[in-house]
Amino acid sequence: MNEQDIQVHIQQLVSTLHAHNRSYYILNDPQISDYEFDMLLKELEALEAQYPQFADANSPTKRVGGDLTKKFQTKKHRIPMLSLSNSYSEQEIIDWAERCQKTLEEASEFVCELKYDGVAIGLRYLNGQLQEALTRGDGEQGEEVTTNVRTIRTIPLQLQGDFPPDFEIRGEIFMPQQNFEQLNLQREEQGEQLFANPRNTAAGTLKLLDSKEVAKRGLDCYLYGVHGLTDHAKGHFEAVQAAQKWGFKVPDPAARMIEKTSTIEGIMDFIHYWDTHRVNLPFDIDGVVLKVNSYFQQAELGLTAKSPRWAIAYKFKTQQVETILESVSFQVGRTGAVTPVANLKPVQLGGTTVKRASLHNADQMQKLDLCISDTVQVEKGGEIIPKIVGVNLKQRKSELRIPFIDCCPECGSSLVRQQGEAQHYCPNELGCRPQVTGKIMHFISRKALHIDGLGEETIELMYAKNLIKNPLDLYSLTFDQLLALDRMAEKSANNLLQSIATSKQIPFERVLFGLGIRFVGETVAKKLAQHFGHINALIAATLEDLLAVDEIGEKIANSILAYFSNPINLTYTEGLQSVGLQFESAQKSKKSDLLAGKTYVISGTFETFSRDELKELIELNGGKLGSSVSAKTHFLIAGANMGPAKLQKATNLGVTLLSENDFIKIISN
Ligand code: IVH
Repeated sequence: MNEQDIQVHIQQLVSTLHAHNRSYYILNDPQISDYEFDMLLKELEALEAQYPQFADANSPTKRVGGDLTKKFQTKKHRIPMLSLSNSYSEQEIIDWAERCQKTLEEASEFVCELKYDGVAIGLRYLNGQLQEALTRGDGEQGEEVTTNVRTIRTIPLQLQGDFPPDFEIRGEIFMPQQNFEQLNLQREEQGEQLFANPRNTAAGTLKLLDSKEVAKRGLDCYLYGVHGLTDHAKGHFEAVQAAQKWGFKVPDPAARMIEKTSTIEGIMDFIHYWDTHRVNLPFDIDGVVLKVNSYFQQAELGLTAKSPRWAIAYKFKTQQVETILESVSFQVGRTGAVTPVANLKPVQLGGTTVKRASLHNADQMQKLDLCISDTVQVEKGGEIIPKIVGVNLKQRKSELRIPFIDCCPECGSSLVRQQGEAQHYCPNELGCRPQVTGKIMHFISRKALHIDGLGEETIELMYAKNLIKNPLDLYSLTFDQLLALDRMAEKSANNLLQSIATSKQIPFERVLFGLGIRFVGETVAKKLAQHFGHINALIAATLEDLLAVDEIGEKIANSILAYFSNPINLTYTEGLQSVGLQFESAQKSKKSDLLAGKTYVISGTFETFSRDELKELIELNGGKLGSSVSAKTHFLIAGANMGPAKLQKATNLGVTLLSENDFIKIISN
């Protein structure tokens, strides 16, 4: 290819990938497999690296986050970013709507939408390309965070259709609850301070200097205002609909996330609906926003110094109640971390009965300065677990402070607290009951060895009966031993044994994660497995070797060194190796010819293995992978949610269907 052809090819790849991104993230209707998408992306990355002169600043490859920005520049907003006047009172909302109608002297339509609890962002698009992203700042000037915003997948980098040549669109960047919980789980695992709520986390994330990290955190965005339109829409609602056509993620009217009404009853109905249904949303809202729809009427109503007269926010009250603190108990987790938990006099809050609240750590207890029998204020914010936000000192009955404990409530060992860490730990890793059973629970969890059919109760029971004292013992359990357990029938015993056998196929990185080494979460385990390839190389690694691995710092490195310097852990991992668990990365382990000469197609979603892991297993065992069902396909491994068309095609062609379990049985032989 000559240079000109290459340039054209790059442009084609860019627009193909933009289109697929839109199908996937905006329309929820993927047109190609993740694998095919990644292949196109990789091709583009390689070409851009080779021909940087043809690389596009808004290329889809920029989604993964780029280099470090040094600091953020402040820039003036072309249109000031106002805020909304708000109210917690329904009457004030009624007054506002009546005032609008009276001033306008004509009927008006209102748009009702959600008040997303995140951070405001202004996005400027020039000729359909994302040009600049500014935070609200002080309303006059904001910070330019374009590099970070480019990593947010629901913000289009390149628009399509009939968009205005130069305009600004504003919206709210937020962190979905699930991503927030996930992030905090990871931080807890790595001994880092937890984030308070999704809103602050979104704000902090947007200001990170490393856009790679931003990309990982899974921010999201809804758009709520289009500025600088001329003849594109007559009102706000229509502009939002148009923005969807250009590629933006906007609220769905079918889910009542946005609604047009011309009556006050309509507004109230929207408010009441979301006051009760907001708990079902996957992200936080703190109220609803009401806007006069027509741009003409908006102009007529005008602005005050701080906010427009044509809009108002109705804010939901944070649900808070007072109750009595009865006692504080201390829970020991699998890592030995000790968490204080408040036991409360049961109280109704936001539709559930609250009996307990986490107090996180000793510092948090000290900050609240809790005394026994205190009347405490309990609040349910964005988080699922309620928290104690304060003490009603007027109701204080005793001055008996609740101390943090010195010894483990489970095994009596003296607790330790390392410098710079928030949590106290019980150091008796191998002899403290909740640590042992917790480690077994972790080992069998979905993301680790995925052993099905074992709940916490059964594990506690097996531990109490001395059947298992660590995960290795799972591999010598017999059918008769299982059958002797309460509530274990023949079928469940067999299933459990099958699941234990299957776990021997789980890839090295998940086994490594399953070991439960402190600070070695899923991602770190993956990095280590890729880097070292074999457990023996990891065991032999020095501090320097470990620090050379991408994203491994001193804390993680020292924890790994400490783990493998303990002879008990070495014997344990040797034991796991000898029962046949994977301790070598797939690329490096030897292959079988079990599936030789057969072509497999994978479709749908699976339980035990990820799609990539299934593909790897097929190739490692000599099988061939097909991307779609054809006359050449021998087997279709059918997961959940497989499309009916594919199924029909496979049946017509006489392709053999396999469930995930059928396939596992074949490769376990
Ligand atoms: S309209 C001039 N609509 O709430 C009015 N704002 O103080 C511009 N917010 O910082 C805002 N959801 O970030 C509007 N559906 C929505 C919103 C919304 C959340 C935020 C916005 C602003 C604050 C209002």
